[in-house]
Amino acid sequence: MSNAFDIGFRSQETELIDRTVPVEGEIPEWLSGTLLRNGPGKFEVDDSKLRHWFDGFAMVRAYDFTDGDIEYSNRFLRTESYADALAGRASGQFATDTSGLAKIRSWLGQLGPPAATDNANVHVAEIDGELVAQTEVPRWVTFDPETLNTQGTFEFVDEFEPDMTTAHLVEDPDTGALFGHALSFGRTHEYHLFRIPDGQRRREVVTSIPTDNPAYVHSIGVSKNHLILVETPLQIDILRSLSPFREGFFDLLEWDENGPTTVCVLDRETGDTVARGRTEGFFTFHTVNAYDDDQEVVVDLVAFADPSIVEGLSFEMLEKEGFDGVAQGRLIRLRIGQDGNITTRRLYNGGIELPVVPRAVKTKPYRYAYGQATDRPGANGLVKIDTERGTAREWWERDTYVEEPCVVQRPDAETEDDGVVLAPALDVEAERSKLLLFDCETLELQATAHLPQHEPFGFHGRFFDSFDRASPR
Ligand SMILES: [Fe+2]
Repeated sequence: MSNAFDIGFRSQETELIDRTVPVEGEIPEWLSGTLLRNGPGKFEVDDSKLRHWFDGFAMVRAYDFTDGDIEYSNRFLRTESYADALAGRASGQFATDTSGLAKIRSWLGQLGPPAATDNANVHVAEIDGELVAQTEVPRWVTFDPETLNTQGTFEFVDEFEPDMTTAHLVEDPDTGALFGHALSFGRTHEYHLFRIPDGQRRREVVTSIPTDNPAYVHSIGVSKNHLILVETPLQIDILRSLSPFREGFFDLLEWDENGPTTVCVLDRETGDTVARGRTEGFFTFHTVNAYDDDQEVVVDLVAFADPSIVEGLSFEMLEKEGFDGVAQGRLIRLRIGQDGNITTRRLYNGGIELPVVPRAVKTKPYRYAYGQATDRPGANGLVKIDTERGTAREWWERDTYVEEPCVVQRPDAETEDDGVVLAPALDVEAERSKLLLFDCETLELQATAHLPQHEPFGFHGRFFDSFDRASPR
C-alpha cells in the first residue's frame, strides 16, 4: 500500500501498560475514569496480510484519566484466534479465509454461519460487573480492567443460543439495561431482540421475528418505549456457507439492488409490532440514537447508498483507491408514524461515520450528535452536529485521522454539551497516535496526549468511570 494513512493498518506488536504520556494543554481535573476501546492491532498471519480491516486481531486500548494525567495501555486479547495467528494459522471471521477452522453446521438440518471466532475486536461493554470484548458472533471475551489481561470466554447464564449477535449493545441510562439483537439460522431464520437487565448476565428475549431473507443488521435503535429494527437490502444468504468457494462471512452478503429498507418498531416491553414501514433502500452500520416523539418514533442513523463501503475497507480496495474509494455516510433522521409512514431528513451535509451521543441522552430526545468527518482531504476530522438547528462545528487537520469520538459530560452538567469530547487520532506524518481532548460546547482543542507509538485504526469504545485502573496495585 502507498497511502499516507497506511500506518493505520500496520500492526502494532508493542504492548504498553500504564505508560504516562506527555500532554500539551489542560486535562480537566474532574475527568476521572477510563476510555476503553477495541479494534484490530495485527493484520498478518506469518507473512500473509489479512483480507479486511474488520479481520485484524483484537487489541484493547485504555486511556486512564486521573488528576489531569493520562496513562495509556494496549494489549492483545489472548484468544484462540490470536494464538492461531501466532502459530501461522489464519482464523479470521469477516472476510479472510477461514477454511482451516470453518465447520458448516448441518446438525439436524440446520445451516449456520462460518464457525464462531473469538476474535472479539469490535466493541466493549460492562455486563454484570465484567468487562467484555465483543464481536458479531456470540463468543465474547472478558478481560481484566486493571491489567487488560484476557480472562476467558464470557458466559451468559441463559438458554439463548443465537448464531450471530450485535456488538453494539445500547444502554438505557436510567435503568442500566442493555438492549441488542441477534440472529439465528434454521429452517426459519429469526431475528431476536433482547434485553440484559442491569447487574445480570442473562438475555431476556423481548421478541423473535421470523424472516426468509435476514438482513445484515449491525445495530438497532432503542427509545424509551420501543426497539427499532432496520432491515436494509443487504441480506445474508446462508446457503452460500455450503459453498466450498466461500472465504468468510463477507461472501454470504447479497445486495438486493431494488429492495427497500424496512423499519420495524416494536414495543420494548411486550415485543409487539407497533409500526412497520418501508423506505428507499440504503445500507447502514450505525444507529446514532432513537427517541419517542408523541405518536412518532425517531431514529437517527448513518446511511449509505449501497454497501460498497464493506468492500471499500478491504485492503485490496484501500490499496487501489485509498479512502477516496470508500463511500460517504449520510446522517439521516427517520420519523416513523403509527401507520408505518416514514419521512427522511438529512441532518448533516458532510460525510460521517462512527456517530455517538453522550450516554445520558441515549433513548431520549437529544440535540447534538458527534462523529468522524470522513470527507476531508488527507484527514479524518471531528464533527458536532446540532440536529435542532441543522448546523455543525467541525475540526480537522491535514495528516490527522480522527477515530470514533467519545463524549464525557461533566458530572454536574446542566447542558447536553457541558463536558469534553475525547478523540483518538493518528498523526500519519509523525507515525504516532494521540488522544485529542475538545471542549464539548465549542469543539475547541483543549489538550493533546502524545502516545509513544502508532495505534492501528480501531472501532468502538466506551468511557467507564467505575473501573479505576490508575489505583495502586
Ligand atoms: Fe460498529
